[in-house]
Amino acid sequence: MRAEFRGSAVEALASNLGPGVALTGADVPDRNRQDWSFMPATRPAAVFRPSSTQEVAAILRACHDAGLAVTPQGGLTGLCGGALPLDGGIALSLERMVGIEQIDPDGMTMTVLAGTPLEVVQKAADEAGLFFALDLGARGSCLVGGNLSTNAGGNRVIRYGMARDLVLGLEVVLPDGTVLPMLNRMIKNNAGYDLKQLFLGSEGTLGVITRAVLRLHPKPGCVAAALCVVTGYDKVVDLLATARRNLGPFLSAFEVMWADYWHQATVRVPGGKAPVAIGDGTHVVLIEMQGLDEDLDGARFDAWLQQQFEVGAIEDGAVARSLSDLSDFWGTRDAAAEFANPQVIGPHISFDIGLPIRRIEEFVTRSKPALLDRLGCHSVHYGHVGDGNIHIVAWVPGAAPQPLPTVSEIVYGIVRDLGGTVSAEHGIGLLKKPYLNHTRDEAQVDLMRRLKRCLDPHGILNPTKIFD
Ligand code: FAD
Ligand code: LAC
Ligand code: ZN
Repeated sequence: MRAEFRGSAVEALASNLGPGVALTGADVPDRNRQDWSFMPATRPAAVFRPSSTQEVAAILRACHDAGLAVTPQGGLTGLCGGALPLDGGIALSLERMVGIEQIDPDGMTMTVLAGTPLEVVQKAADEAGLFFALDLGARGSCLVGGNLSTNAGGNRVIRYGMARDLVLGLEVVLPDGTVLPMLNRMIKNNAGYDLKQLFLGSEGTLGVITRAVLRLHPKPGCVAAALCVVTGYDKVVDLLATARRNLGPFLSAFEVMWADYWHQATVRVPGGKAPVAIGDGTHVVLIEMQGLDEDLDGARFDAWLQQQFEVGAIEDGAVARSLSDLSDFWGTRDAAAEFANPQVIGPHISFDIGLPIRRIEEFVTRSKPALLDRLGCHSVHYGHVGDGNIHIVAWVPGAAPQPLPTVSEIVYGIVRDLGGTVSAEHGIGLLKKPYLNHTRDEAQVDLMRRLKRCLDPHGILNPTKIFD
């Protein structure tokens, strides 16, 4: 569509919406022009902020008819450019679709609007005596619709699975404005295809999620956690196996921080605390257990840790003795959210690769010197090792982080050699598009394209993302 026609179509659509829904031209807020990927901000023609499914449907129908590109936006905490609107396109922000509509304690479900922040959902579940298991550092800013569209992972996947595993139903608006009311509340429902799965993890390219039925769990009776200093990565993997065996289903997190990360998190982040001291060649493992009974399960956890210490599996460590300790321990892990601060690291690329667990250290020992020697690129490592997923925060001092394709070439080249995935949890967006074929072969990408054409024949919904 030529620019002037596109401009008039946007104006016509904007004027048909209720007051305050559309912001056009220079009124588009800066926050809607970029996400957390450090990719350059774009210049959308408008941001639309509907407050009902009907408004979302009307906007999509009009964009479909006019051939206008629409990019759904949640909390804009995505790390791969998936929510960046196109220059001259529309940003469709779900920020006004906020609210918890129903909590069903019998079925253990919560029905929410897609613009509800994750932390609000967590608190509401807690107040109802239940637990919503999805948790990630951006909890205060990310919105449920964004979590589901990226199939977010986070801190407790080892026990509860990814976002996909925490959803029973969705309401979705297709690119042509058709509303799919798939608000299933039952755990078992094999009536034909499970269509909601198409929209979970498809990064806003197939439909706009407007509501969700979330799966809740019983609130844990007690939570215990320890920071364990472990020497040598093989011992980390052995400790994971032991924790799985001995703590069984109570094991709720197994997060690992390399020494390079630990330094940034505890020394460079303002106010950072180091609950344990570490030496050369060590890793810090944050192990969390959610049990039923403080006395029984807390004591069992302590005894297990003591035993691991005695057999030399753990070199040193600290056990959380209070809620404040628990918060400090998780603080070392959540500190990654502060790395973007120029006083810490500043602009960087955040990778979310997945690898066979035993080979993660091989990746680190290959990529770290390669990045430093060839590109002067620094890197620190941490992540959800229990899920075979680590993050690499990489930066070249003084250089803009995006585009730094050579950094990605090195990282993803090693990932491919080791049989891993270029994205374990953040998605592909724009940033990882050139590397999708490291992980998915042509037949799979071709089927993705066919699905996209089937659901979005005019190619209006979040075009240019994931694949061309
Ligand atoms: P956005 O960034 O706004 O959008 C993300 C994608 O979803 C885009 O493609 C967008 O078009 C699409 N989208 C958004 N809303 C909708 C909708 N309603 N319908 C259809 N499509 C939609 N991710 C993890 O998986 N695990 C982590 O542990 C984790 N930790 C993080 C920590 C920090 C500090 C930060 C900044 C990010 C982290 N992330 C993590 C990445 C990010 O927060 C998650 O991917 C989050 O789920 C994105 O939600 P959002 O609302 O911010 O989505
Ligand atoms: C984390 C994000 C970056 O786990 O996925 O910190
Ligand atoms: Zn993560």
